[in-house]
Amino acid sequence: MCGIVALIGSREVAPLILEGLRKLEYRGYDSAGLATIKSLDQEKKGVLTCEKAEGKLVNLASLLEKTSVEGHLGIGHTRWATHGKPEKQNAHPHRDQSGDVAVVQNGIIENHNLLRNELKSDGVNFLSETDTEVIPHLISKQLKKLKEEGCLDSGETLLKAVQLVLSRLEGAYALAVIWSNAPDALVVAKRQAPLIIGLGQGEFLCASDTPALSGFTNAILPMEDEEIALLTPLGIELYDSAGCRQQRNPLILSENENAVDKKNFRHFMLKEIHEQPETVELWLARHFPQHLSDQFPISLPFEESFYQSINQIQILACGTSRHASMVGAYLLEQFAGIPTTVFYASEFRYAAPPLSPHTLTIGVTQSGETADTLAALAMEADRRKNFGDPSFISRQLAITNRPDSSISRQVENVLDIGAGIEVGVAATKTFLAQLLSFYGLAIAFAARRNSRTLDEISSLIEELQNVPDQLRILLNNHNQITESLAHNFSDTKDVIFIGRGINYPIALEGALKLKEISYIHAEGYPAGEMKHGPIALIDHRVPVISIATPGKVFEKVLSNAQEAKARDAQLIGIAPEGPDTAIFDSLLPIPNVTEWISPLLTVIPMQLFSYHIAAHRGLDVDQPRNLAKSVTVE
Ligand code: F6R
Repeated sequence: MCGIVALIGSREVAPLILEGLRKLEYRGYDSAGLATIKSLDQEKKGVLTCEKAEGKLVNLASLLEKTSVEGHLGIGHTRWATHGKPEKQNAHPHRDQSGDVAVVQNGIIENHNLLRNELKSDGVNFLSETDTEVIPHLISKQLKKLKEEGCLDSGETLLKAVQLVLSRLEGAYALAVIWSNAPDALVVAKRQAPLIIGLGQGEFLCASDTPALSGFTNAILPMEDEEIALLTPLGIELYDSAGCRQQRNPLILSENENAVDKKNFRHFMLKEIHEQPETVELWLARHFPQHLSDQFPISLPFEESFYQSINQIQILACGTSRHASMVGAYLLEQFAGIPTTVFYASEFRYAAPPLSPHTLTIGVTQSGETADTLAALAMEADRRKNFGDPSFISRQLAITNRPDSSISRQVENVLDIGAGIEVGVAATKTFLAQLLSFYGLAIAFAARRNSRTLDEISSLIEELQNVPDQLRILLNNHNQITESLAHNFSDTKDVIFIGRGINYPIALEGALKLKEISYIHAEGYPAGEMKHGPIALIDHRVPVISIATPGKVFEKVLSNAQEAKARDAQLIGIAPEGPDTAIFDSLLPIPNVTEWISPLLTVIPMQLFSYHIAAHRGLDVDQPRNLAKSVTVE
C-alpha cells in the first residue's frame, strides 16, 4: 500500500517520478505528492519544492502543469490512507519545520504517538495526522545535533541522521529522504515493506515495485530488510542495520515483466478477463506434458520422499487468494487425499492451531507483498524451527504471480503462477492462474502418492487441455449476455451468490468481485446453509445467483435455488443448458464439464457480471475506492 518513487540523476526528475507513480497507482490513490531539490551552482544548498494534491494522480499532474517543480533529485508518493483522512494535508511528502527535509514513506510507524508527543514537547508543530510526519522532524533534530558535533552538510551526514532515526522507529517502512543542504544525495531505507533500487546510466530510481522501473532500467537491486542506502550521481553505498557495507550483484528483469498496456479494452480488468484463455494455455504448456508417461506434471522443488511423508497441508492467504486456496483445498483433499485447511493469514498469525508433524504450509499471494501472509508464514517457520523435534517434517511453498517479490525472498520454494502483470485492482486472471497451480499440485501429489489411478489423472489433464477453447467460447458469448443482464441489476442493493462443494469458493469470489468494484452489498453462501438464516433476507428485490454444475451436489443446489424462488427471489443460474436449469429466470450457460474442472469456467460469468455492473454504474473499475492492489500493512 502506498507507492514511492525516488530518483537521482542528471535530468529533470519530476516527469519521470510522475510516470513511475502512474505505474504504482494500483498501490493507492487517495492523494499524491512530489518534492524535488534544484541545485544552485553558486551555493551548496539547493531549493526544495513540494507539491501535493488530494485524490488521484491526475490531480497532481494537472497541478504540476501550472507550477514549476525542477531539479535532478526528487521523491514522489501515491497514498493509501492509514493514519489520517485522504486529504491534502496528509499527502506525502512530509517535511520538517524548516521545509529543508522531505520524506515519503510506505508502511506504518507503530510508535508514532510516542514520538509525536516527544517532538511536540520540543515545540514541533505538526501539520498532518499521519504517522510519517514524525520522521522528517526527527531527522531534522538529528541533523542539528550532528552539525553541532561538527558534521558538514553532506550526503554522509544525512545518511547518519536517518540511520539514527530508524533505530527509533517501530513497525514497517520503506522510505526515501532528501535534504536541501545535500542536493546530490538521496537516502532510502526498508523494513518489511518493499523497496527496489533500479540502476540506470548515471541515475538511480528507487520504487516500491518493478513496474515503476519500466522504460528506465532492467537492472535492479531489491533492498533487504533493515538496509539503508545513500545514492549519489557517483554510485550506491548500501549498509545493513549494523552499518556494515553490503555488496550485491544486480538482478536483471525480463522485458515482459514490465509490460503494462490496456490494448483496445475500456478497462484493464476487462482486458485481463479476456486474457484468461492464454493464461491457461501458457500454464499448461509450461507445466503439463501432452501425454503422461513416467513424467509427472508440474515439477516442484521437493524431494520424492516428501510427497509421501506429509500428513497435512495448511494454506495461508487473504481475499481472492484465499478463495483460490479454498478450491485448492478441495482438490488436495478430494482428489489427492491430503487433509488440508485454509486459514485467513491475518487470523493465523495470532491464533495458529497447535503444531502437528509432517506439514506443508503454503502461502498464496498474487502480489507476494501482503503483510499478513508474509508475517503468518514467518511466524509459522519460526515456531516450527524452535519446536526442536527433528522428526517433524515442515516445509513451506509460496504460490505467487511476482517471483521478484518479498515472498520469494522469504520462502525457499516458489511456484510462479506466471499470469503476467495484473493492473486492475480486482484480481481476475491471477485468480484463475492460482486455481491452475492447485490443479497442478493436486495432480502432482495424487500421482506420487498413488491416491488416484493414472486414468483418473489423465482424464483430469485432458479436461484441463480443453479449458482454453471453452474459455474463449464463454468469453465470446457471455460478454454480451452479462452486459445486458447487468443493466437490469445495476440499481440492485443486495445480491446473494450460492454454490456448494468445489463451487462454494466461487460463490464467495463472485460476491467479493461485485462488492469491491460495484459497491453493491453481496454475500457468498454455501447453498445448503441458506435455510439456517440468510434466507430471511430474500424477497423479490434480491437476485440469487446459483452455481449449479453436474456432479455430487447438482440437484442439491437446484433445490436450494428453488427455495429462494419460492420466496420471490430473481434467480440467475450459472449452469449448463437443459431441462433441469429451466428454473432460472436468467441463465448464464456454461459447458457440461465435470465438477472437478467447473470452477475454471463458472468464475468467468461472475467476473463479467461484476465488471459490467460497475462499468454501467460509471465507476472506476480498475481503481475501486478504498482499495489497493498490494496490501503491505497489517
Ligand atoms: C480482490 C483482491 C484482494 C486480494 C488480497 C490478497 O480482487 O485482489 O482480495 O486477493 O488483497 O492479495 P494478494 O493475493 O496479493 O496477497
